[in-house]
Amino acid sequence: MVDVSKLVKKSIKNLTTYVHGGNVWEAAQISNMPVNQLLDFSISTSPTGAPKPAVEAIRQHIDLIHHYPDLDHEWLLETFAKFAEVKAENIVSCNGSTELIYLFAEVFLGKEYEALIPVPSFSEYKAAIERAGGNMVFLGCDPKENFRLDVQELEKSVTSKTRIIFLCNPNSPTGQLYEKDDVLEVIKFAAEKNIMVFLDEDYIDFVVDGKRYSMAQYVNEYENLFILRTLTKFFGLAGARIGFGIASPYVAKILTKAKMPWSVNSLAMFGAAEAVQDEQFIKKTRLLVSSSKKEMMELFKEISWLKVYPSETNFLLIQITKADLTSTKLREGLLKKGILIRDCKDFDGLSDKFFRVTVRRPEENKKLIQQIKSFKPAD
Ligand SMILES: Cc1ncc(COP(=O)(O)O)c(C=O)c1O
Repeated sequence: MVDVSKLVKKSIKNLTTYVHGGNVWEAAQISNMPVNQLLDFSISTSPTGAPKPAVEAIRQHIDLIHHYPDLDHEWLLETFAKFAEVKAENIVSCNGSTELIYLFAEVFLGKEYEALIPVPSFSEYKAAIERAGGNMVFLGCDPKENFRLDVQELEKSVTSKTRIIFLCNPNSPTGQLYEKDDVLEVIKFAAEKNIMVFLDEDYIDFVVDGKRYSMAQYVNEYENLFILRTLTKFFGLAGARIGFGIASPYVAKILTKAKMPWSVNSLAMFGAAEAVQDEQFIKKTRLLVSSSKKEMMELFKEISWLKVYPSETNFLLIQITKADLTSTKLREGLLKKGILIRDCKDFDGLSDKFFRVTVRRPEENKKLIQQIKSFKPAD
């Protein structure tokens, strides 16, 4: 009798499964509610959903679905380049930005090398390092200092084996926005040591004055810099799976070469091209998130057993200071009412006293806060 388990590579069998927010499919089953009636605060996407012209473009092109996607899609690279204020030769597209996290680790890491991650941060960096067979080194950021990035400590954590430094700016799940000077210092330091900097700017579009904070303009000067962007978050195209990387022409070319052919589907391409050109959507969404967040933070202040961390993006990291309540209990209780929050207990550097919520429309935020205020652990 064949034993297929003996044929699977050990490195694959031992892979860790990581938790994500946004699992509305499971939540719909547990709460016995249809997906579109759930209030999802666990996935950090725009409260507005995807721009209408993007959805319309997807509809209009649906009949072309029997064709393969445009392999080179130069037109889309040009569109992303214009949006990010770089050149098309600096762009590599991807099937959601997760694809490039894995690809990057595959290209630059091996079992003899290390990748450094300030934590807490996005868990897929770990997953990608593990898949590539590399070693991870964590640098804990201090909650007492609002998880600020300590550049000196980061530099001290670098060894002769370090190949990648992962940075997320603004960082998830903390909402911290690192100063441009600090990020530049890390890039310069890494350049001298021949280390790649993987800078995840997936949430930068939500930042007021985000263009000022983006490091996109530095990719030609510093070939060790790679920037990640997505259409999942700000443009609400999570289900279409599309994003892009910004890098020097050499790095963009290498990653393009290493990518699976046709990884980005045609419908995602047509939708994305419309999305990034929708100036009105961009302006409206940024304003809505900014004002809704201010109001949400004020409302959270009324709950004495919660500590809300400052955030420069579209979600809030919150700590439960009450002894007899955990984030898991809160998540489970709210789920029964059709409300999803992101339990942060699985993040390195956090615990079951932390959760993350996305800024949604003011009336939806109020519903969440009302439910939390009246929450009893037995609910
Ligand atoms: C910081 C960060 N980077 C990358 C991703 C991956 O997003 P996607 O693959 O949908 O572009 C996420 C998703 O949660 C994230 O929070």
